[in-house]
Amino acid sequence: MSEKIKKILEKKEFSKGDIITLLQANKEERQLIFAKANQVKKDFVGLKTYYRGLIEFSNICAKDCYYCGIRASNKNVQRYDISDEQILQAVKFAYENNYGSVVFQSGERADKQFIERIEQLLIKAKKITKGKIGITISLGEQSLETYRRWYNAGAHRYLLRIESSNKELYYKIHPQNKMHDFDTRLNALYDLQKAGYQTGTGVMIGLPFQTYEHLADDLLFFKAFDVDMVGMGPYIEHTETPLYEHRNLLLPLEERFNLTLKMIAILRIMMKDINIAAATALQAIDPIGREKALKVGANIIMPNITPTINRENYQLYENKPCIDEGADECTHCLEARITISGDDIGYGEWGDAPHFEKRTKIKKEA
Ligand code: 5AD
Ligand code: FES
Repeated sequence: MSEKIKKILEKKEFSKGDIITLLQANKEERQLIFAKANQVKKDFVGLKTYYRGLIEFSNICAKDCYYCGIRASNKNVQRYDISDEQILQAVKFAYENNYGSVVFQSGERADKQFIERIEQLLIKAKKITKGKIGITISLGEQSLETYRRWYNAGAHRYLLRIESSNKELYYKIHPQNKMHDFDTRLNALYDLQKAGYQTGTGVMIGLPFQTYEHLADDLLFFKAFDVDMVGMGPYIEHTETPLYEHRNLLLPLEERFNLTLKMIAILRIMMKDINIAAATALQAIDPIGREKALKVGANIIMPNITPTINRENYQLYENKPCIDEGADECTHCLEARITISGDDIGYGEWGDAPHFEKRTKIKKEA
């Protein structure tokens, strides 16, 4: 069987069948995939990890995704919205500690007040860091006009996970209504590219009803869409969400974890020069889960720099790690972890994916 895996790994392009075979690799076979992925990482993006200081500034959310702990219908969450000063304080922390980049993330809102607030925040964050901090935003589905405004205000990367590229599965994990429309989400991804962002997407792995075929299609979707960044993590059930009802369909956590590592490794081989995040959800399953991801192709880590008092209320899933640690402690802890994993840290660099430059250059020349 491992001959079969070796043969696939030698191919230039993977078919859907190849990907499914790789996803089903056993313990020994998967080492071949992991080794190849780490080699590709070394050759194309370097054995280097970049930081994105993550600021989860508000858990107020207008949407109702079936998997998410901060969905609007969950009345047991204490809602918070960090002040602009505190957010900028966190940006300053990231800047002073040479993180290179920050990510602003929150529950989804598209009201005028929110749009204006983000615009102002972006401008200020750039200003206080002398234009040096790289800013990624992860603020859900918005209009093309809003995406453009935020881009012009200073954001240059955007994360919007497709969650699943399969429409049927998408509607098993989201309500089927105007606010959670699959095509709207897909269009939002196109709009992000149009607005000039380095565009990131991703999926959850190990969802109820999800098959190997779905996951293979997800990887092919990333490739066809020509994304610059991917963040994929294991699905972790949350008791206060509708999807919890289907927990009997779930793979054991360890298998979801292993499947996620395989997805990351296969993606690195398929898309050699993109940025791939080691999702925090991996750490909820294994204390060194993110470091394991760095060994098999991931090159981005998003240390949480949200003020600690608010962290416990941003639980998209249960068992979220590092809820009690302060930002300072996280920095020291991470540096040690990453060095052990064998990577250097790209301190003070934006760490853009080489893929983006190539993608836009080709477009410009065409
Ligand atoms: N388990 C794992 N990941 C989750 N997310 C939301 N809820 C969960 C969960 N229960 C992920 C989604 C979202 C990202 C911010 O967090 O993929 O896009
Ligand atoms: Fe908030 Fe899905 S529940 S965006």
